[in-house]
Amino acid sequence: MEEKIRALKEQLEADAAGVRSKEELSAFWQKYLGKNGSVAGLMKGLRDVPKEERPAAGKTINECKAWAEARYQQLNAEIERIELEARNRAEAVDITLPGTRREMGNLHPITLVKNRIVDAFAGMGFDVYEGPEIEDDDHNFTRLNVPKNHPARDMQDTFYVAEDIVLRTQTSGGQIRVMDRQKPPIKVLVPGRVFRSDSDATHSPMFHQMEGLVVDRHITLCDLQGMLDQFVQALFGAGVKTRLRPSYFPFTEPSVEVDVSCFECGGKGCPLCKHTGWIEVLGAGIVHHSVLENCGIDPNVYSGLAFGIGIERIAMLKYGINNIGLLFENDLRFLKQFKD
Ligand code: DAH
Repeated sequence: MEEKIRALKEQLEADAAGVRSKEELSAFWQKYLGKNGSVAGLMKGLRDVPKEERPAAGKTINECKAWAEARYQQLNAEIERIELEARNRAEAVDITLPGTRREMGNLHPITLVKNRIVDAFAGMGFDVYEGPEIEDDDHNFTRLNVPKNHPARDMQDTFYVAEDIVLRTQTSGGQIRVMDRQKPPIKVLVPGRVFRSDSDATHSPMFHQMEGLVVDRHITLCDLQGMLDQFVQALFGAGVKTRLRPSYFPFTEPSVEVDVSCFECGGKGCPLCKHTGWIEVLGAGIVHHSVLENCGIDPNVYSGLAFGIGIERIAMLKYGINNIGLLFENDLRFLKQFKD
C-alpha cells in the first residue's frame, strides 16, 4: 500500500506540473479524486488488505486523499491567479493614450467674412434683409435704372430662367425690395448668393455679395466714405484708409469705385497692391434719383447711398487666397485653416 501511495503521489506531482487551465484541472480532479479516480481505486483495494492492517491502511489512504485534495486546492488557486492576470492583461486600458477626439467643425471662410461684415455694419445700426435668388427682371434690372436693351446689361452675363426671370446677378435688387416695403430712414444690408456666367481664377458662376443701402434726409458721399472707413478698419485693421474713384453704375449717380490703402505694405507698394499702394474692394455711390422714384421715395426730400461688396473678393484679400475655386471645392484641408 505504502508503495502504491508513493507511486500515486509521484504521478500526481508530475501531472500537477502540467496543469495550466480550468479544463486540465478538472481532468486532474477526475483522475485522482473522481468517483473512479486513483484515490477511490486505493479505497477499493482495501478489500484485498489483510483485516488487521486495514485500519492503518485506511488511515494512510485518507491522509493521501487529504493531501491530494490540498494539492488540488493549491492548483486551483494558482490557476485562478494566472487566469485573472491574463484577463487583466487583456482588458488593460492605457489611460495615457490619447482619446478619440470629436472633430470640431468650423465656419466656411465665406461665412466668416460675411459675419464680420454684418458685425461691422450692425455696429452702425444696419438691419439685414435677404431677397430671393431667383429674381424678376424688374427687380434685378429695370427698376435699378437698367431698362431692357440698355447697354449696362452687358456688364453682367446673366443666367435666364425664363423670359423675364433671372438668377439674380447682383444683390442690388434687394434695394428695391426693401424700399418697396419700408420708407426712410432705411439702413440695411442685403447679403446673398448671386450668379453670372463667368469663370476664371477670380470669378465663379456663383458668388456672394453684400449690398448696403442707406436712405434718409441729407445722405451724402461723406456718409458713404465714413461708413466704409469703419467697415474696412474692422476687416483689415485700424490704420486702413479708403479712397473713392469716379466710376459708373446705372443705379448710382455719382458712382464710385472704393479702394483701401494696402494693408500688406501700408501703402508703400508691394505685389498685393501691384505697387500702387491701393486695392480696389467695392463699388458704391449715391442712389440714382430714378431708383428712389421707382420705389415711391421723393428724391427732393431724401437721398441715399448704396454699396455692393464682393464677399469672395474680401475673403481672398483678407486670407491671401489666390484662386476663387478653392472656396468652393470643399477640401477640408483648405477649409480647416480659417478660424476667424
Ligand atoms: N451691383 C454692383 C455689381 O454687381 C455692385 C454695386 C455697385 C452695388 C455700386 C451698389 C452700388 O449698390 O452702389 O457690380
